[in-house]
Amino acid sequence: MKHLLATDGLDPAVATAVLDTADELKHTLLGREVKKLPTLRGRTVITLFYENSTRTRVSFEIAGKWMSADVINVSASSSSVNKGESLRDTALTLAAAGADCVIVRHPASGAAQRLAGWLAEPGTSVVNAGDGTHEHPTQALLDAATLRERLGSLKDRRIAIVGDVLHSRVARSNIHLLAALGAEVVLVAPPTLLPYGVESLPVTVSHDLDAELPAVDAVMMLRVQAERMHGGFFPSAREYSIAYGLSERRLKLLPDHAVVLHPGPMLRGMEIASAVADSPASAITEQVRNGVHVRMAVLYHLLASEGAAA
Ligand code: CP
Repeated sequence: MKHLLATDGLDPAVATAVLDTADELKHTLLGREVKKLPTLRGRTVITLFYENSTRTRVSFEIAGKWMSADVINVSASSSSVNKGESLRDTALTLAAAGADCVIVRHPASGAAQRLAGWLAEPGTSVVNAGDGTHEHPTQALLDAATLRERLGSLKDRRIAIVGDVLHSRVARSNIHLLAALGAEVVLVAPPTLLPYGVESLPVTVSHDLDAELPAVDAVMMLRVQAERMHGGFFPSAREYSIAYGLSERRLKLLPDHAVVLHPGPMLRGMEIASAVADSPASAITEQVRNGVHVRMAVLYHLLASEGAAA
């Protein structure tokens, strides 16, 4: 694997290999006081973030450090991007300075793909850490890792993805990865928050959350992306919460084995009730924990495995 830009088109065998590596790393490190492995000693990983992040940036930094890579964090707000430097010049500068891998988050859909094109010549790997409303592939991989842990195989499991699908790169990456791994995906959202062309995706669509919950193995709540709703939010926050929020009443509609996911950051009380987020059904903290192992596995497959740079 040379880059990780999207789950759309990602070979299921490659995705499974990354998930298996993450699982192995998690078990190798379990209970160890010192987490460091020597695997990426001498390699340089740079995170380049043009949008805010807590989970993705921090877990990539921890992942790199636990594998002994040198990790450097660049945020647009404190770099020469603020003086008007372009994404291309910034990326070429990081590659010239010695980056083996650039992990990029950017508000423009397609930015990671462009970066991979510009960095083909220096041979620097690129990971998409979220590009506009397009994709967030490591989030989908860590969600799949969490679901595999709780449910076993994803084959024929029914997963509901609920809420602001229109603006969600997490939803898009999950739709493609979950379908590739054999799961059935149902999108549950108001018509105004579904993407154009939804009928071409490997999903079914519902507008009735109460009707769907009794038949799912997992429910993935989405963040409402107010920062991408330039024309306002319809339905209103209150209407959204009533129709699509995961309340304590709705938690009781789920089968006993069902798992509740949320990529974070959560709007408690609107997208998900606090009591649900903190309930035994919730795997939200496990998602964050698995994010470190999945990102370690991604770095391993990009920079250290036999198939790296292939
Ligand atoms: N899920 C996710 O991408 O979270 P951050 O924005 O905090 O990285």
